[in-house]
Amino acid sequence: MNSVFSRGQHWLSKPLEALIGSADPIARLGLRTINKRFRLESAIAGGKSSKTFFGKDLEQGDLVVIKLLMFPRSDLESALFQNEIHTLHHFDDIQPRITPRIIASGELYEGDIMYLVTEKVEGRTLERYLQDDLSFLNLNGKLELFHRVASCVAHCLGPGWNHRDLHPGNVLLLEQTPIWLGPSLYSQPDPKTVLLDWGQSYCDLFARFDDAPPFIETLHGCYFKSFTASLYSSPPEIFSEPEYQHRTIGLYDSWSLGLILHRILTGKNCFEFRSLGDYAQSLANKNIHTLIDSAASQILRQGNEHSFLLSQLFRRLACVDAAQRLHAGSAARVLWDLTIEGWRPASEAEAIMYIADPHSFVPEGGWKYSRLSEIDEG
Ligand SMILES: Nc1ncnc2c1ncn2[C@@H]1O[C@H](COP(=O)(O)OP(=O)(O)OP(=O)(O)O)[C@@H](O)[C@H]1O
Ligand SMILES: [Mg+2]
Repeated sequence: MNSVFSRGQHWLSKPLEALIGSADPIARLGLRTINKRFRLESAIAGGKSSKTFFGKDLEQGDLVVIKLLMFPRSDLESALFQNEIHTLHHFDDIQPRITPRIIASGELYEGDIMYLVTEKVEGRTLERYLQDDLSFLNLNGKLELFHRVASCVAHCLGPGWNHRDLHPGNVLLLEQTPIWLGPSLYSQPDPKTVLLDWGQSYCDLFARFDDAPPFIETLHGCYFKSFTASLYSSPPEIFSEPEYQHRTIGLYDSWSLGLILHRILTGKNCFEFRSLGDYAQSLANKNIHTLIDSAASQILRQGNEHSFLLSQLFRRLACVDAAQRLHAGSAARVLWDLTIEGWRPASEAEAIMYIADPHSFVPEGGWKYSRLSEIDEG
């Protein structure tokens, strides 16, 4: 294992745990600047395995975010960090932007510290936004908020990626106004939203290559046997057979979207389990269905013009059986139809028919803006 312990603590004078847990590990390690270019300035609270800092690119003068993985405790921890770097590179030239731009990455002290430098995106996490501003938002504001998140997630699914750690703290809303073009083959909306923390992400394509980098192999050995700590990003199938999880991987993030939709609409968390054991038990005794019914009723009871359809949308996303879940792209489509098209179902029966497959539904008289392609129109 590549750890400081295996090399006899050659440059550490304090116990490792004290350094990692310290409020200011940088001061203790004396690591102020990386590669004479990136200066660490202030630590950002949180971080399960890595520590994140705001900093400055002394060469370009830009503000940056520096993430450090210090003394990886296992090959898996290193693999997750490398996966984040790899994914950010992959998404770097994809438009619209759904990841922060990657500036540099590498290792220090023979791999005992790994670093990742990205641009500092001006914006607020969805978590902050929900805590500070949700009470000021009307229904349209809430719908736009969810539209931004769903569109962003739908974009990463296009290139075949699943985020797998989607919760409000990992969604960063830019200060710019979203651009709602499309949905068509040639115009993509830009939700001005980026996703953070790509370490857990999974791309099916890489599983098929023999010459994939070694960290991919490490990850693929663990993917369907472990999960992240956030309830938002732990859909029920994490307790299922690896084969089922693999088959339904493209619907993993939809569960998270369902929980985020509920939180945006009601201001409350959909579930409050005291422990992972409680969660597992509610799945085993099927009480989870009662909890989902009650969360859907909370949305319905809001009694606004969209509440029936939104409660149905929530049910399709937060669906226990992953195979029955709605794709993130379809969720984004629903929000497009409600907000940009201004469409309203004529009846509950029509809403149910629509939500079964939003992409194939065409209302009487057709859509105003949503054509498959302008070129098809001649
Ligand atoms: N590129 C960025 N621009 C602006 N703020 C950022 C950026 N990256 C991270 N942040 C801020 O730092 C916080 C933590 O970052 P991030 O989610 O990447 O790491 P983490 O959750 O601490 O790490 P991990 O879960 O991987 O251990 C975010 O919630 C956000 O407030
Ligand atoms: Mg995070």
